[in-house]
Amino acid sequence: MGSKILIIGASGQIGSELTYKLRDLYGRDNVIASDISDNNVDLVNSGIFEFVDAKDYESIKSCVEKYSIDTIYLMAAMLSATGEKHPMAAWDLNMSSLFHVLNLAKDKFIEKVFWPSSIAVFGTTTPALYTPQYTVMEPSTVYGITKQVGERWCEYYHKNYGVDVRSLRYPGIISWKTKPGGGTTDYAVEIYHEAVTKKFYSCFLKPDTELPMMFMDDAIKATTDIMNAHPNTIKIRSSYNLSAVSFTPRELADSIKKHIPDFEIEYKPDYRQDIANSWPKSINDSFAREQWGWKHNFKLDDITKEMIFQLDQKYNDAKIPSN
Ligand code: SER
Repeated sequence: MGSKILIIGASGQIGSELTYKLRDLYGRDNVIASDISDNNVDLVNSGIFEFVDAKDYESIKSCVEKYSIDTIYLMAAMLSATGEKHPMAAWDLNMSSLFHVLNLAKDKFIEKVFWPSSIAVFGTTTPALYTPQYTVMEPSTVYGITKQVGERWCEYYHKNYGVDVRSLRYPGIISWKTKPGGGTTDYAVEIYHEAVTKKFYSCFLKPDTELPMMFMDDAIKATTDIMNAHPNTIKIRSSYNLSAVSFTPRELADSIKKHIPDFEIEYKPDYRQDIANSWPKSINDSFAREQWGWKHNFKLDDITKEMIFQLDQKYNDAKIPSN
């Protein structure tokens, strides 16, 4: 079909792996990676890379025109923990980038948009267990507010301007290639790095803080699945609940101990505890499963096995002298 894809925020945790996957699927030169920073060397060296500032409409538009882009994945955002330190900057980045991309679609420069939402759209007044698609949504973080408002605008642009925008409420995403930055669920990635390198982790959440999580491979599969689904099956144009596993830091530590028996964890909750407390413990994603066939593959012990195997290789390879 000759689709030309632009990924904005391609250096980040999800953006980088999405770039690799989409290049596998659609050809290296049909997927343009872009970011404000070129510090992700693996990503930059993997194919075409452009500097694009997600806050700057002209910066995005000129890249769209240069490569005749028809589909944008907008993966740039300031996440929950950093957003609480820089509320206006989070609002500015998360909202302006979304409007730029939605307006490019409204004005027919592009045809299709993917924009991630998050479990952060929910708040303390939301039912925390098996949270339904349609429920009370009173997010308390700036990040959550931008995602909630963004969902409303996605639906609005779809209904009023026919924009083909698709979105998922990602849970915490666990991966080993690119580290996450500035999120509350980041502990579930940091813990594996520290377990493999130091056999010790100081956790910024309490042991019983249950949160919805997902392995990167599942998150990427969900993203390509929803983007490939027939438009008529995408009945929700705000954002879909999406779920795989839920666990606590204590359960995660126990899973790691099956591979690293002398792993130790201490708990020193900080300001991120309040953020975690405001989010659901588990998610009902039956609409995604019924409407476009979503299904996850990785459970907690599968994730742990893969994370420890990959990080072991990564850190042990780094220790082997090159000559
Ligand atoms: N992973 C995100 C965060 O912790 C939630 O979407 O901010």
